[in-house]
Amino acid sequence: MKAIVFDTFGGTEVLHEAEIATPEPGPGQVRVRVKAVGVNPVDGKIRSGALEAVFPTPLPATPGGEVAGVVDAVGEGVDQLKEGDEVLGWPDTGAYAEYALASAAVLARKPAGLAWAHAAALPVAGDAADRVLDLLGVASGETLLIHGASGGVGTIAVQLAVARGARVIGTAGPANQEYVASLGATPLVYGENLVERVRALAPEGVDAVFDAAGKGALEDSITLRGGTDRIVTTADFRAGELGVVFAEGPQRRSAARLAELAQQAADGTLVTAVGTTYPLADAAKAQQASDAGHSRGKIVLTVG
Ligand SMILES: NC(=O)c1ccc[n+]([C@@H]2O[C@H](COP(=O)([O-])OP(=O)(O)OC[C@H]3O[C@@H](n4cnc5c(N)ncnc54)[C@H](OP(=O)(O)O)[C@@H]3O)[C@@H](O)[C@H]2O)c1
Repeated sequence: MKAIVFDTFGGTEVLHEAEIATPEPGPGQVRVRVKAVGVNPVDGKIRSGALEAVFPTPLPATPGGEVAGVVDAVGEGVDQLKEGDEVLGWPDTGAYAEYALASAAVLARKPAGLAWAHAAALPVAGDAADRVLDLLGVASGETLLIHGASGGVGTIAVQLAVARGARVIGTAGPANQEYVASLGATPLVYGENLVERVRALAPEGVDAVFDAAGKGALEDSITLRGGTDRIVTTADFRAGELGVVFAEGPQRRSAARLAELAQQAADGTLVTAVGTTYPLADAAKAQQASDAGHSRGKIVLTVG
């Protein structure tokens, strides 16, 4: 099968298409014929070698940590899925490929009305958004500040927080202010004088901070909260030295919750923004765009 492979760590130029063995599902697994793959910032961090100390990757490797596709072969002991089922979820093998393996237990059925690219945009962002909102204990009537509200994680986090009854102030670049407002947040441009500008919008203070950008807003967040309590980042590796919680996982990978989010996305009550889609062969271009960090919503590779 065709797959995107890297044999050394480095820039996006290390990514190349290769012919590799089509994987066979083991017990509890299915093989998925990949239709779409979400491209996540962590894919670029793994490719660059930046995560080797905490998350070693044997080479050669194929990226891709969320997938949507059609079940194509079923391993021993799998009775909840069969060939031809349309699914989304978390793969066990890199999904920048024509086929990927996944545990049947972490796959949700794709609603018929949900496009492949939008399905592939849900697992990682949905899981991270849920996990952090729970860690923060965001409740109705509270004010939540989200850094990076226009990104893949931010897009889902804003909507799930608003659904909990929170008021959300969401930071994004100038080009994404209207987009963030459309998700239900009060938009704010990140950068200079953030503390003063947040205080102008929320004179009574913010109850919690979700940093989904990792671009140096933790100090301002601590000032706004008057300490490190109820601040969680998914992205800033300085969290530990500043005494802030880093949401490193483990991912929950709940197929039941993913199915709920997928249904909401199909019904149009949850916006799954897909920024740009690329064919599998353009994986390097897709990761360049992801590394740049300004895609609106999710970057997705389409396969086949
Ligand atoms: N720990 C976990 O479990 C977990 C899970 C998922 C993701 N993550 C991490 O969470 C982060 C966000 O992921 P994602 O998929 O949402 O990324 P993304 O789609 O690339 O979004 C990045 C966000 O950061 C904003 N941003 C860019 N430059 C900024 C700056 N200088 N100051 C403030 N904000 C800035 C962007 O806004 P504009 O585009 O409007 O400029 C956008 O909202 C990544 O670091 C990812 O690796 C961690």
